[in-house]
Amino acid sequence: MPSKNANNTSAPCKRIRGARCFSATLDYSLPVLRIGPVQLDSPLLLAPIAGHTDIAFRILCREQGGVGAAYTDLLNSRAILKETERTLDLARTNEFDQPAGMQLYGNSDDPLPEAAIWAVDHGAKIIDINMGCPVDKVAKKSGGSLLLRDCGNTTMLAKRIVDAVTRHTNGRVPVTAKMRLGWDPEHKVAPILARALADIGIAAVTVHARYTVQFFSGSADWNAIGEVVEAVPDIPVIGNGDVTLPEHVTKIMQMSGCTGVMIGRGALRTPWLFRQAKTLLDTGTAGPEPLLGAKLDVVLRHLDLSKEYDGEERALTRMRQHISWYGKTMGHVKPIKESIRLATTFDDAKAVLLAARAEFTDFDFPAVALSRTRHDPHIPTVQHDFLDLTCRNQSSE
Ligand SMILES: Cc1cc2nc3c(=O)[nH]c(=O)nc-3n(C[C@H](O)[C@H](O)[C@H](O)COP(=O)(O)O)c2cc1C
Repeated sequence: MPSKNANNTSAPCKRIRGARCFSATLDYSLPVLRIGPVQLDSPLLLAPIAGHTDIAFRILCREQGGVGAAYTDLLNSRAILKETERTLDLARTNEFDQPAGMQLYGNSDDPLPEAAIWAVDHGAKIIDINMGCPVDKVAKKSGGSLLLRDCGNTTMLAKRIVDAVTRHTNGRVPVTAKMRLGWDPEHKVAPILARALADIGIAAVTVHARYTVQFFSGSADWNAIGEVVEAVPDIPVIGNGDVTLPEHVTKIMQMSGCTGVMIGRGALRTPWLFRQAKTLLDTGTAGPEPLLGAKLDVVLRHLDLSKEYDGEERALTRMRQHISWYGKTMGHVKPIKESIRLATTFDDAKAVLLAARAEFTDFDFPAVALSRTRHDPHIPTVQHDFLDLTCRNQSSE
């Protein structure tokens, strides 16, 4: 967790490319992130998070501002070519979701080059190869993180994908790789694998700074990303892992020298994090934390976007799954979460959110204030009303 993250110690600005530096004493200039021919407006990327980063959520984050690119969930190359309903759904993109990255997984026996061409033809502006997924379903089939165990074969596979995409697009669409540091600490292959991949034309690498055996435990080792940066000075390295606050973006860049930062779980809680972090990179001061009313607006927008893309039933299911992530940033909103979970229709869920939002039309305050309401006898009445209201909604379900 951020508060315990060993990376949060103040570290010297030791690996800096060009004139960019994020120490308090130097210029806060926005780093430029260019992935092959694709110039991004921001060096901040939304990570693929299977089950969460569907088109509605990607567009939500983009609308909040600060997102340079966003990726689909990992896509199975065989399922892509069969055009299964589920995969077509996961691969959906449109003009509001650009530049779109599509992430593929598989191994040397899978039709990854063909799937990459399919992805390009269906809107991908960046093709990413998953080399980091630790879950059995992927790694047991020799994809994902298992690619870290045989760097030679993995490089040959990546070359076939790069060659196919380059031929198909005249070099217009870059191919990137997303990896962990290695399978375990005895096999920290990320620097040598990244070097080999850069040599065959991979345009950028993202490094989730954990080992496969860690899954998501422990802290991401932001310093270790610096070893990859040193190994591949000719392509961008995108740092990833445990970035949940705007200040983490400058810290991970400062500690590793990476030129881009990818954010996953932090975005599930706070889709506005990209905007805040980009403001920090632009100006040296993080953009303000949205007030509770504004956060509820984001949740409402997410619900509406989900309905637009997936219909009411799935929008409700998605919001039931996602509301706990939002709840983590809003203080004591358990009654809202419970009401959403108990809602049986889209309209019920929306009514809960609208009722909560109505409490904040004239009087708004930072969400953290809400967490004090139950202990502070001097709170404004509106806060009691808010809690009462959400409790009423819950009991009426
Ligand atoms: C539920 C879940 C699903 C994920 N799905 C993917 C995926 O489809 N592809 C991928 O490369 N990484 C996936 N990841 C890893 C994230 O992209 C990211 O590397 C990791 O969560 C660390 O970044 P964070 O601390 O910002 O979340 C997933 C992570 C989680 C928690």
